[in-house]
Amino acid sequence: MKTPVLEVRDAHMRFGAVHALKGVSLQAHRGEVLALLGDNGAGKSTLIKCISGVHTLTEGDILLDGKKIALRTPSAARSAGVETVYQDLALFDNLTPAQNFYCGRELSFPRWLPRGMRFLATRRMDREAASVIDRLKVNLPRFDAPVALMSGGQRQAIAVARATVFARKVVILDEPTAALGLRESRKVLDLVAQLRDEGNAVILITHNMEHVVELADRAVVLRQGNKVGELTNPTRSNQQELVSMIVGAE
Ligand SMILES: Nc1ncnc2c1ncn2[C@@H]1O[C@H](COP(=O)(O)OP(=O)(O)OP(=O)(O)O)[C@@H](O)[C@H]1O
Ligand SMILES: [Mg+2]
Repeated sequence: MKTPVLEVRDAHMRFGAVHALKGVSLQAHRGEVLALLGDNGAGKSTLIKCISGVHTLTEGDILLDGKKIALRTPSAARSAGVETVYQDLALFDNLTPAQNFYCGRELSFPRWLPRGMRFLATRRMDREAASVIDRLKVNLPRFDAPVALMSGGQRQAIAVARATVFARKVVILDEPTAALGLRESRKVLDLVAQLRDEGNAVILITHNMEHVVELADRAVVLRQGNKVGELTNPTRSNQQELVSMIVGAE
């Protein structure tokens, strides 16, 4: 058996009286797309926020490459190779797309100087961020405007593009196509496939069963904080089984 790049063991998360995760376990492997499914409030976003360092599990373990790891902050998770696109996006409104891309990991020069004494490579960051966003074929009105002035779809595309640049092990996408038009959704799905082909484990949260059938190698279903099912290789013919697990029908 291959060691999973990411493993969650018996995860519990409580927010005061709310028991949002009740002993969830899952594994994600390199080069696979794992769909994380469930109705509104099932615990999907909570689970991925525990993996990406936003919340700390009340109980349970997270393992990367077989080693228990405490990811106490989002930047610790990113340094460990876990890149996340949040449902609520988490872009900085007052910054431009390029500043959002490189926030907390700015490029600087010259390299022979200690970090604190270098100059910011502003033009290089602008150029590189622009070229990635351009590959996504997203129309941005102006590249130097703060993202607060951009549409929901444009913001979502910027967040996904940023993840593709920095992905190293695990990429988590929480409803990445929710705000997107057809053409932009297609681009994002292509990016998901690309991230998988580059050897990442991709965890895809979506309510779109077409996307699950098209891309997922495996699906895990949460309901009311419990893992209620898992299906390998979801297809059009067993899609109904997944839907039943999601809504809780027998
Ligand atoms: N920070 C928080 N404080 C208190 N309760 C929370 C918090 N975050 C989530 N919850 C609760 O945990 C439960 C799971 O929420 P979560 O956001 O994980 O659902 P979800 O599966 O992502 O749903 P959706 O499909 O609507 O995004 C909900 O009952 C929610 O109200
Ligand atoms: Mg959610």
